[in-house]
Amino acid sequence: MRMRLKKYLDERMAAVADYIIVGYSDDLDARNSAPTAPLDWRRVFGNDNPVRLELGCGKGQWVCRMAAAYPDVNFVAVENVTNVIVAACEKAKALGLKNVRFANCGVEYLPRNVLPHSVDAIYLNFSSPYPKNQYENRRLTNARYLDLYRGWLKKGGDIRQKTDNRPFFEYSLVSMSRNGLRFKRISCDLHRTPDIPNLTSEYEDRFAPLGPIYYVEAEFAEN
Ligand SMILES: C[S@@+](CC[C@H](N)C(=O)[O-])C[C@H]1O[C@@H](n2cnc3c(N)ncnc32)[C@H](O)[C@@H]1O
Repeated sequence: MRMRLKKYLDERMAAVADYIIVGYSDDLDARNSAPTAPLDWRRVFGNDNPVRLELGCGKGQWVCRMAAAYPDVNFVAVENVTNVIVAACEKAKALGLKNVRFANCGVEYLPRNVLPHSVDAIYLNFSSPYPKNQYENRRLTNARYLDLYRGWLKKGGDIRQKTDNRPFFEYSLVSMSRNGLRFKRISCDLHRTPDIPNLTSEYEDRFAPLGPIYYVEAEFAEN
């Protein structure tokens, strides 16, 4: 049964291979220690439009909506769970989107693939909050990740986080301010802040009816 499920997943991934720029196959594997050339966005997308990353894209509702709404922006969506990201790739393919690609790996494996200072914005949509202190370093706003983002963002680039989890939001604000970020915009109720444009993700649609969505936009102070 397990083998059959794996074969089915492999077939689904093969059918969307043109959307995957980092994955777990030998030639694309971000964990592979062999040296590799970082991704050249112009070769990936065939243009020089700005590139924005979504880290932890889940099944891709948000990134597909954004790519359709902003055709002059390129999006790279990262997700480490293969049978989740495959659904995102299938959505993008069904919509015929040309300005979105997917990286099937943990964010922590991406430094081999992303050229320094080549990214315009980083989106963290409903990132896993890892509430137990022992897993703090897995939170995507932990200092070890913020250090990576500092290296990837262009001058003037920013990080945009939204979450329904207040303790995680407070943790993120403290972590960002301790790690050299300054806040550009904060909302403690994004859905009632009409001047911040917003398209919703799967998790957002599920959790917004239960309480406020917290939002922060921040940039590195040295920028
Ligand atoms: C709570 S879900 C949110 C999904 C989507 N962004 C949304 O708002 O609907 C968080 C996603 O991040 C992924 N994730 C967590 N840590 C990650 C990491 N280090 N690298 C890549 N993906 C990660 C999880 O597998 C999960 O699919």
